[in-house]
Amino acid sequence: MISLKDVTKIYHPSKIMALDHVNLDVAKGEFVVIVGRSGAGKTTLIKAINKEIEPTSGEILFEGNNLAAINHAELNCFRRRIGTIFQDYRLIHTKNVFENVAYAMEVVGASDQDINRDVPSVLNMVGLKDKTRNFPQELSGGEKQRVAIARALIHRPDLILADEPTANLDVYSIQDVLESFLKVNEMGTTIILATHNQNVVNYLKTRVITLENGAVVRDQQKGKFIL
Ligand SMILES: Nc1ncnc2c1ncn2[C@@H]1O[C@H](COP(=O)(O)OP(=O)(O)O)[C@@H](O)[C@H]1O
Ligand SMILES: [Mg+2]
Repeated sequence: MISLKDVTKIYHPSKIMALDHVNLDVAKGEFVVIVGRSGAGKTTLIKAINKEIEPTSGEILFEGNNLAAINHAELNCFRRRIGTIFQDYRLIHTKNVFENVAYAMEVVGASDQDINRDVPSVLNMVGLKDKTRNFPQELSGGEKQRVAIARALIHRPDLILADEPTANLDVYSIQDVLESFLKVNEMGTTIILATHNQNVVNYLKTRVITLENGAVVRDQQKGKFIL
């Protein structure tokens, strides 16, 4: 689904090489964890796949299409197929749980009928059906992150990119959030999740790619995270 060919990213003017000739293939339906210390290049990798930044050299292919070559219309289509999740949830504080997820549908012009059908179904999937009328400040960190996951799922993305989604969570909330990701993956969505947390890697038991100074140094199935 995603292929990185010799991708290098150098930030200017510092000339930091955040990605160093990365080669990587992620197949449809895979759950891939990207690990590495702070500064290893995880966020840069996620942003490059999301086309938020352009590689300095190398190519990124999404279903065989070079991301550097896609036009504006194709870019919009590509963006709709990707759901992105961050460590800070990015919820709207004046909207309740239902409204936060519904908003993602409203902005693309969905009908009330579709909203009322789809929002409860994704909230149910992430275990939040009893919290639909609560506001973000009434939720735990794990619940807030699960709202963000529900919001990302509402467009039925083929790929979920999650950058340190458990960074602000306690150990119990981390489990709830990871269980939601595993469930989403079981239903067929490809997931690429970046983390520096060893417990997350050990819990997920999926493919683990280790970055060091921007380079892939290990790529293991059900790998153990070695610092
Ligand atoms: N916008 C930027 N401009 C310059 N340097 C950056 C920028 N973003 C990240 N870096 C540098 O690139 C390296 C990789 O950063 P990052 O991808 O954020 O790593 P991680 O997410 O693994 O902590 C770090 O040395 C960081 O300081
Ligand atoms: Mg990061």
